[in-house]
Amino acid sequence: MRIKDIHLKVILDSRGQSTLEAEFFAELKGETKSVISSVPSGKSKGSYEVVFLEPQLALEKFDQVKEKILARDFVSQKEFDDFLISLDGTSSKKILGGNLILVLSMGFARLSALFQGIPLYQYLRKELEGFEVSFIPVFPFPFFNVINGGAHSGLRNEGKNFLDFQEFQIIPQVKDYSVGLSVAQEFYKKLQRFLEEKFSKDQVFLGDEAGFSCPFSSNEEALEIIFELIKKAHYPLKIGLDIAASQIFEKGGYRIGGKLLSSSQLADYYKDLINRYEIISIEDPFFEDSFDDFSNFLSLFKDASNFLVIADDLTVTNKERLTTAITKKSANAILIKLTQIGTVSEALEVVAFAYKNNWKAVVSHRSGETLDDFIADFAVGIGAWGIKAGAPAKPERMAKYYRLLEIWQEINQKS
Ligand code: PGA
Ligand code: ZN
Repeated sequence: MRIKDIHLKVILDSRGQSTLEAEFFAELKGETKSVISSVPSGKSKGSYEVVFLEPQLALEKFDQVKEKILARDFVSQKEFDDFLISLDGTSSKKILGGNLILVLSMGFARLSALFQGIPLYQYLRKELEGFEVSFIPVFPFPFFNVINGGAHSGLRNEGKNFLDFQEFQIIPQVKDYSVGLSVAQEFYKKLQRFLEEKFSKDQVFLGDEAGFSCPFSSNEEALEIIFELIKKAHYPLKIGLDIAASQIFEKGGYRIGGKLLSSSQLADYYKDLINRYEIISIEDPFFEDSFDDFSNFLSLFKDASNFLVIADDLTVTNKERLTTAITKKSANAILIKLTQIGTVSEALEVVAFAYKNNWKAVVSHRSGETLDDFIADFAVGIGAWGIKAGAPAKPERMAKYYRLLEIWQEINQKS
């Protein structure tokens, strides 16, 4: 495929921070076509993620890269991505920046799908199959982050939000995605009314991922509220958590409710919460280098194959770190963030490797998002178990949930 031109510019993300948007141009059947992609950015980043280059600097570096891209043809996603990887030449992608490389890799994927005349999710499915992996694709269960704590709460620095955990999620337990989305939207409104009554309107804020942020006194208080609202209305919802434990890791322990807990005390605390609130998944329960604490924790769930221990900062969508996690049996699901690794084909390779080892995959947005909906196609394409795109509110989150709805309808009309 021959790319005719690429325009790169700096746009603002949902937090008002600079990020990159790329438009690819190509000739298709005598007409000029273009596709647009943009990249998000994280706040509770893992230390082993590829480097996010300051967008203005990325823009300066782009001219040289563009010249090299436009000078040749590329026959596959892998060839294009490998070309960028070799231009950068570092494992952390610090020369060109993981964000610049990714926005180009996404653009190439979108353009390839257009040239092949198939939706992006089908293109990504074909690319994944290229890694010779067999898997039973499911339509991803959405994980809606309805209460935002930790680094995403916005209130913590003012000493108001005492939630140590970063994400309190509701996960619809229905196969029909459109039903799950409506239930989540109804629950979200109900939760808002409840919180406004409990804390008063001027104390209910939105966190970075559009979940509510209020002066809660403890993790349990937030869990209790969600759990009771689900029970009362018999909603087909279960609870999931992202602890983002590297954020509360201090002097070898974990700060919970103002106290420092050891990893085994923390595991006991989780066990109690899981039983009390019927929690079905926990992401990043321990610090990003604690492969062994993760694996001790997972071993508690031998008979509960439905419980997910999800690795995010532990594995950072990186095959080497995933290999360690698989060897040590640290988790049974991996969070996939394209920004952590920087190319579409490397992310697909990680997914294939996870599947070959019977792990599940959950695709994720970042806390600083754009209106790009690439991850919705990515999640369906890889037949992911789940997708995290924040609360069912705000345009940058809804872009992903609505694209999923569109794909859901498209798939179900056909069959
Ligand atoms: P981040 O957090 O996008 O701010 O890094 C998201 C997560 O931890 O899953
Ligand atoms: Zn996380």
